[in-house]
Amino acid sequence: MSNAPRAPAATLVIFGAMGDLSKRLLVPAIVNLAEGGLIDDATAILGVSHHEGDDEALRGAMDDFVEDKEGWKALRTRISYLKGDFEDAATFQALADKVKGNAVFYLATAPGFFGPVVEALADAGLMNEGDGFRRVVIEKPFGTDLPSAQALNAQLLARVDEQQIYRIDHFLGKETVQNIMVTRFGNALLEAVWNSRYIDHVQITAAETVTVGTRGKFYDATGALRDMVPNHLFQLLSLVGMEPPNSFDADAIRTEKAKVIAAAKPVQPDRAARGRYEAGTIADKPVPAYVDEADIDAERHTETYAALKVEVETWRWSGVPFYLRTGKGLEARDTEIVIQFRDVPIALFRETGAANRPPNRLVLQLQPNEGISLDFVAKKPGPLTEIAPVSMDFHYADHFAVGHQTGYETLLYDVLTGDQTLFQRADQIEGGWRVVQPLLDAWAEGEPEGYAAGGTGPASADELIARDGRQWNEIA
Ligand code: BG6
Repeated sequence: MSNAPRAPAATLVIFGAMGDLSKRLLVPAIVNLAEGGLIDDATAILGVSHHEGDDEALRGAMDDFVEDKEGWKALRTRISYLKGDFEDAATFQALADKVKGNAVFYLATAPGFFGPVVEALADAGLMNEGDGFRRVVIEKPFGTDLPSAQALNAQLLARVDEQQIYRIDHFLGKETVQNIMVTRFGNALLEAVWNSRYIDHVQITAAETVTVGTRGKFYDATGALRDMVPNHLFQLLSLVGMEPPNSFDADAIRTEKAKVIAAAKPVQPDRAARGRYEAGTIADKPVPAYVDEADIDAERHTETYAALKVEVETWRWSGVPFYLRTGKGLEARDTEIVIQFRDVPIALFRETGAANRPPNRLVLQLQPNEGISLDFVAKKPGPLTEIAPVSMDFHYADHFAVGHQTGYETLLYDVLTGDQTLFQRADQIEGGWRVVQPLLDAWAEGEPEGYAAGGTGPASADELIARDGRQWNEIA
């Protein structure tokens, strides 16, 4: 990022400024950008929230999160506060008096406010781009199913342009996720075999050790499928599955990504598995069952684990399943993409002690221990032709110094510079919901299968992939 030009000066208006996202991620990311010389010295932050307070109260609330940072001192003086109700037109009138020139409106609010706040901004004339750009950043979740996402898109697009809307998916802020395209389109040797002729299947995993913790209210109404699949996991799927874009332009890339999701068949319940963690042990600590956590209604049958088989009907991917899984309360944190290559046409070494299926695969390790490894076979030294699995490993940390980042730096920089590549377009979001809608409908009823916290997930997820004669890569 260090060679990147400075973003133009703007006012970053944060709705929900006193909230966690703003304190833990947004403001620290802006401070990191300031330290990296990536934002204009006149960049200002204006926090809006219904809490009592003033400029100094907002600055004080941020201190704990950024106090030790060099860049904080200067930025601190450019933070101001507006107390106001998000449903009160007076709040937006007051904003209109304060905000001049370039402005980004960041909606770090409950999702119920996304539509009304954008309408109120438009009513107050704040989205008119006469004297500078006006952009709005929408956090997740963007809808809870296909109809609600369509309704929200329609509500927003009735008042602002798609070019002004930045729908966040924080997975796209991860360096390793951005690297998927570079890996594919920057290395001829990979793209040459990136198709159904050479690839047997793809596995995309986002395993978490964390449990629902204090997020019961949000999570119990959401579940693993809504929380992770149509957004984060489908972003990964579309980066793996997309055709080469004809330029690095945001819309060229987003069009190719949207085409992959548009080609995915809606997933029927017999192609999926769901689970909910029971009591168990994670890292030697006892963990209560999901239903015994705070703010959980056991009658809701919310799943904490989801696995599904996605079929993408394109020339490149026909017949190559994408197996996706995600869950909380699992034995390890592991976000990875496994590209499993097909067997060689003739198994010359079948009798020589090699595993039945040579582990010919590429693993993109997105987090933790970011890196890429290529598993293949080699001859063991000695007079016999014996083969053994080996691996070529690349670790980010060995090659690049990545300072502590919140993951929002690139996303905020891109909003300020007007680059929508890493943001979701309306069609992509709706496409994602369309693919999972049969599961949302089916899973409104019935019980998820129990799995022990600290384990690998429900047995039905193993059966899902075993039915096709395959198995999940170990969560490690
Ligand atoms: C969020 C989900 O969007 O992503 C969380 O709401 C989840 O439930 C998180 O834990 C995972 O993100 P990361 O960056 O920790 O992998």
